[in-house]
Amino acid sequence: MKFFVDTADLKEIRDLAQTGLLDGVTTNPSLIAKSGGKILDVIAEICSVVDGPVSAEVAATDFETMLKEGRRLAKIAPNVAVKVPLTVDGLKTCKALSGEGTMVNVTLCFSPSQAILAAKAGATFISPFVGRLDDLSQNGMSLIADIVQIYRQYDSIKTEVLVASIRHPIHLVESAKMGAHVATLPPNVIRQLYNHPLTDKGLDAFLKDWAGTGQSILGQ
Ligand code: E4P
Repeated sequence: MKFFVDTADLKEIRDLAQTGLLDGVTTNPSLIAKSGGKILDVIAEICSVVDGPVSAEVAATDFETMLKEGRRLAKIAPNVAVKVPLTVDGLKTCKALSGEGTMVNVTLCFSPSQAILAAKAGATFISPFVGRLDDLSQNGMSLIADIVQIYRQYDSIKTEVLVASIRHPIHLVESAKMGAHVATLPPNVIRQLYNHPLTDKGLDAFLKDWAGTGQSILGQ
């Protein structure tokens, strides 16, 4: 399973890239706004740090302008994945850009039927938002199960399921059990994945016992 980080914060991205576990980055207009930078500069900098796909979202809602924006974003670097919303014009843009060889991430997916349309439009990634469905007391994870099951029925579908709006480690674990291709995780959730109180407790005990031996591995 690939791990993307869902942020436009360069400090966080640099830090996480050093772990060697980062396969890509997703941004959206809200995250770019939060970064305080200009979208073209921010995306270019992220692409210089991360080799994998870096999603950059169009801001227009009509096909012609979305296509122009998508082409502009795609010019930044070969690893840019243009992000378009799941609308009629968004999917027309997806079809056109993917026909030109540009990676496209179709975002704001909330139903299996929308995911089928994105695959037909040649999306590289479909982004179903699990957390926002959970917020409405709907089951975000069952959407992932449905999309993974549908895509598996057709060898011709190459679209990868990119689980988005992840709020906690259980979302990630359930997505992995279902066979989703990618998870985009906020930095705090990536850090939570490492933690277990028994790991800390066990390490404390080992270190205490080791100190009692007076040994040093490098000193022998
Ligand atoms: C995905 O690409 C989106 O940027 C993101 O996952 C949305 O998450 P949120 O619902 O926490 O804003």
